[in-house]
Amino acid sequence: MSVLPNPHLVARMQGHRLSIFGEMSALAVETGAINLGQGFPDTDGPVEVTEAAIQAIRDGFNQYPPDRGIPELRQAVADHQARFYDQQVDPDDVVVATGASEALGATVMALVEPGQEVIVFEPYFDLYAAVIELAGGVRRAVTLRTPDYSFDPAELEASINASTRMIMVNTPHNPTGKVFSNAELGEIARLAIAHDLLVVTDEVYEHMTYDGAHHVPLATLPGMAERTVTISSGGKSFGLTGWKVGWAHAPTELIGAVHTVKQHLSFTSGAPFQRAMVTALNLSDGFFTGLADDLRARRDLIVDGLSSVGFTVYPASGTYYVTADVGPLGYEDGMDFCRDLPGRCGVVAVPTRVFYDDEEAGRSIVRFAYCKRTEVLHEAIERLSRLAG
Ligand SMILES: Cc1ncc(COP(=O)(O)O)c(C=O)c1O
Repeated sequence: MSVLPNPHLVARMQGHRLSIFGEMSALAVETGAINLGQGFPDTDGPVEVTEAAIQAIRDGFNQYPPDRGIPELRQAVADHQARFYDQQVDPDDVVVATGASEALGATVMALVEPGQEVIVFEPYFDLYAAVIELAGGVRRAVTLRTPDYSFDPAELEASINASTRMIMVNTPHNPTGKVFSNAELGEIARLAIAHDLLVVTDEVYEHMTYDGAHHVPLATLPGMAERTVTISSGGKSFGLTGWKVGWAHAPTELIGAVHTVKQHLSFTSGAPFQRAMVTALNLSDGFFTGLADDLRARRDLIVDGLSSVGFTVYPASGTYYVTADVGPLGYEDGMDFCRDLPGRCGVVAVPTRVFYDDEEAGRSIVRFAYCKRTEVLHEAIERLSRLAG
């Protein structure tokens, strides 16, 4: 996307001015199209959780919470890791942040010196590129290749050099819906240990896996806990993206470094939402399996719909996104397709080419978010079927 430079903006952020989500969501509002672009649900989170936030406000939890987060939430994060992954986390090694976003930013800025390299898997969530740039780091992308978005271990190994500091891993993965396999995680771990690298994992879609895929935190692999910062948030799992309650955990010194930066960004945030997130993390197992079952059904609905329209749909066993190739519909470029789509049939999607350094690898691919009510998805498919003609 080209956009005129802003003379006031620091040089390293000039390339990050436009967010594709902002552009496409604005297009959705302008045209009244169904927004399958941005990843937020069109229903509310669990009522016991929203009620807990209201109660917390009534109970007077409205001043600055502790800078590392309230103890109850840090304990709930530790309990959650033990319950789902048999992972032992000391609540003192948990830092609560303003969404996974702030945790990611603080982590990269705390741990990457100017000039050091950070490996990301492309297509990558655009915030990664921006925070690496803010830290003065250098991004090095390893491509996830269609149809299954696997990576070549030799390419990953070749991307490591004396300046490499960190590997960032997002699984389940936005925008592709890929869940990294155990073999892939093992390969990342092997290389991180061999080259003494830090690893940052973004696990915000951890409860959204289907078809027998299971989320495995990289920190649970042998030799990885000591070098991994694990990041997640409640926005996606509980359908509360506007609350922006996230967290990070890592061994004491690593998380201490992250905390140092975090305290100078927001210091702290969201007192009543932190309290309510304790209720959320302690929801019954039935909530989490229900979430996955429900999203899998919607995934099937959108995959069938897109396939019947003629898209080449790539497999997605996690998150609430699915990607598709627009080539069969007569487009070479996903950006052109997404700019035309609202006018042609009243739907918004997002081109994934903007999440690649190697734009050719993702030129004809677009992403659809299916975290919408079933009737909205039916209507979107109905509209998209106009493209088939
Ligand atoms: C991969 C990934 N990481 C992080 C975030 C941001 O999470 P939060 O809203 O908790 O800041 C998102 C939101 O879309 C995401 O897709």
